[in-house]
Amino acid sequence: MKVMVTGGSGFLGQAICRLLTARGEQVSALNRRHHPALAGLGVVQHTTDLRDRDGVRAAVSGCDAVVHCAALAGVWGPAHAYRSINVEGTANVIDACRRAGVTRLVHTSSPSVVHDGRDLEGVDESAPYARRFPAPYPASKAIAERMVLAADGDRLATVALRPHLIWGPGDPHFLPHFAARARRGRLVLPRAPGKRIDTVYVDNAAEAHLLALDALTPGSPPAGRAYFITQDEPVTLTDWVNGLLGAAGLPPVTRHVPARLARLGAAAVEHGYRLARVRAQPPITRMAVAQATTSHWFDISAARRDLGYEPRVGTAEGLARLATHLSANPDHAAARTPELLTPERRPSARTSEA
Ligand SMILES: NC(=O)c1ccc[n+]([C@@H]2O[C@H](COP(=O)([O-])OP(=O)(O)OC[C@H]3O[C@@H](n4cnc5c(N)ncnc54)[C@H](OP(=O)(O)O)[C@@H]3O)[C@@H](O)[C@H]2O)c1
Repeated sequence: MKVMVTGGSGFLGQAICRLLTARGEQVSALNRRHHPALAGLGVVQHTTDLRDRDGVRAAVSGCDAVVHCAALAGVWGPAHAYRSINVEGTANVIDACRRAGVTRLVHTSSPSVVHDGRDLEGVDESAPYARRFPAPYPASKAIAERMVLAADGDRLATVALRPHLIWGPGDPHFLPHFAARARRGRLVLPRAPGKRIDTVYVDNAAEAHLLALDALTPGSPPAGRAYFITQDEPVTLTDWVNGLLGAAGLPPVTRHVPARLARLGAAAVEHGYRLARVRAQPPITRMAVAQATTSHWFDISAARRDLGYEPRVGTAEGLARLATHLSANPDHAAARTPELLTPERRPSARTSEA
């Protein structure tokens, strides 16, 4: 099988490329920059932008299947950037699949497409899309997911996966963020008693993509559907963060602020940044606070039934693997972007959904 992975150089994309190459598939990747780590895996790289329709068509040409993992992810930034990369870029991927006669498209979506800031406790995929979003990122991902699922048909089968809060070796988002703040003594979490969240270990999320590829054919059960992908072990935010910090050899977070104060603070800070036209990301955002102060955990029965998905790497095992990785690569908990995994990337203002 010739598989194209958009965003193959990213955190999740690299894990997907590793699994695909390990089982002998011919893998290519689409990113804006060349990444030696992918070359080392034997992945053919197309350096183009998702917004370049002809570039995307050229990259997808000759492929049997596409995993569309690339996206601009973040809790802050101009809506037009999210729209052009995540929505128009996805339209380009769908167009390229149709032109190239690709029969399978697996799209990496996000559970944030159903999160409007209220608690989500054990919900399944019947939960409706949110009608309002705390940031442009989830809004753009919701439009992109709907486009991908609407494109499902007799010739092109499509499926969307919604992995939640991905962590593990190579995480350029959460661990470096929490670790940097913890080292400066500035890690404070909102108090959220009784609220639990789902997360997923990176290799489990990657494996779900391969399972979806294998199960997907026109008219098959997953065709035209979305699936939550998690550890199926909801935890409190504090426990999750402390697990990551512990793996990095850092002490647990001890400081909390009332949730209401965090919400008011985030709204005020965002407003101030907008008024002052500050482009940098504020230290606190409404989306991050919404995620930190509500429950968002999901029923993954559908992924088990239709894809055969199981979170094979349990949380304790994942944390042990992360600790082993970090003891060999201590800089990975410090840098925003682990150099060994993505040597050509530079630290940027981008952050993941928090
Ligand atoms: N991380 C999470 O917790 C999480 C949770 C839910 C869903 N997701 C979804 O999972 C996917 C992967 O996330 P991740 O954490 O692995 O992200 P990441 O590490 O930031 O990787 C993003 C990838 O997209 C590529 N990319 C970004 N903008 C591009 C553009 N304009 N044109 C071409 N390529 C572009 C990047 O490569 P270049 O920089 O070289 O272009 C990189 O390969 C995304 O779709 C995200 O929405 C992530």
